Amino acid sequence: MINLKFDYSNALEFVSKEEIHKFQEEINRHFESVNQKTGKGNDFLGWIDLPDSTDEVLITKIESIAETLRQKSEVFVVIGIGGSYLGARAVIEALSHHFNHLTGNKPVILYAGQNISEDYMSDLLEILDKKDYSITVISKSGTTTEPAVAFRILKNHLENKYGLDEARKRIVAITDGEKGALKQLSNEEGYETFVVPDDVGGRYSVLTPVGLLPIAVAGFNIRALIEGARIMKDHVSVSTLIDENPVSSYAALRNALYNKGMTTEIMVNYEPRLFYMTEWWKQLYGESEGKENKGIFPAGVGFTTDLHSMGQYIQEGLRNIFETVLSVENPDKQLYVPADDKNLDKLNYIAGKPIHQVNHMAEIGTTLAHIDGGVPNLKISIPKIDEHNLGELIYFYELACAISGYILDVNPFDQPGVEAYKRNMFALLGKPGFEEETEAIRKRL
Ligand code: PA5
Repeated sequence: MINLKFDYSNALEFVSKEEIHKFQEEINRHFESVNQKTGKGNDFLGWIDLPDSTDEVLITKIESIAETLRQKSEVFVVIGIGGSYLGARAVIEALSHHFNHLTGNKPVILYAGQNISEDYMSDLLEILDKKDYSITVISKSGTTTEPAVAFRILKNHLENKYGLDEARKRIVAITDGEKGALKQLSNEEGYETFVVPDDVGGRYSVLTPVGLLPIAVAGFNIRALIEGARIMKDHVSVSTLIDENPVSSYAALRNALYNKGMTTEIMVNYEPRLFYMTEWWKQLYGESEGKENKGIFPAGVGFTTDLHSMGQYIQEGLRNIFETVLSVENPDKQLYVPADDKNLDKLNYIAGKPIHQVNHMAEIGTTLAHIDGGVPNLKISIPKIDEHNLGELIYFYELACAISGYILDVNPFDQPGVEAYKRNMFALLGKPGFEEETEAIRKRL
């Protein structure tokens, strides 16, 4: 049995059961194409099998290298961008203490290569000057500019700090098994390496070493994460019926609402630790569906924080949005609102209540208000934030994204649009081979 629940009852004022169930036949076909690997982008469907195919040898190797790195590192830097970064960060931040940097827990996980900010990198080096650290560089293609620049800088820094031999022991590369600049460099330098499978694209790669190594270095249980994904995989393979399979329901609901003009989906959470889970989800859905001038725009908010900013728009702005609330039923810790004799702040009416109950009432109250304001609400709930439930959630989101993308009739596994900015940047920087583009851009500036 899975822990995750999907509830669309709060969308039924906006979309009829008939409009939802009309996707059933199509969904059956798309499950078939995913399972048989016959649909668009079918050479990138390896992630489907990961919960079963990730073998003991690989898991043990990840755990053992992670343990070695943990022992020698006060800080561990994860270098990567997009799918080579967000999955690991989503899981690590969801499972970490909110103020991890101040707890004394080691290693502290930091990130690089997810931007090209000179100030960010300079600040990072300032910190690393004073800390024992090691790094992983993650790039499937091995040629992405942002992580390549960050890696060049940190490789130099490590070599200057520890000498060539020890620096090599503090670097793990995660990249293609055969090709790419990073693969070649790793071979020459003799780095420990893990392979990103050919048939798994970046944003579907969190259950490969891309996500598993950083998560293990952060001290979390990757076996429980994989097991959660496996339980979800088993569950959704039993029936494709919209009312029995949460993946089918979510995919059907998203498309039924999209067809009614709801072109923006807002992922809502009430737990700050889920911020990067939303970022990961935004990448997964945005990069998978936003193509051929189609696709739901994936946005995210953290409540109740953003009720004091974006709440106004959601309540009364343009009515082209629906919300999906990722609801967490139970907190890990307990804290009650204290009573106060003077009650000057007039809060005694909630004295003695757990903070989570206040948060939960905010969730229910907000959902009702937004429905009244014309915003359909979908709800995904998990009992608590732990490795198992995150594993379920990851597999659920990935499979629903593939099915939803097929309903939209796009290839959910490519990202041709990402190249446009790169070509302009290379031309502007004078990369050899981009002379024509450089000339064309000069005329526009
Ligand atoms: O999901 C994707 O494919 C992308 O977001 C990539 O992960 C991202 O562009 C980084 O690519 P690479 O791993 O090749 O450096």
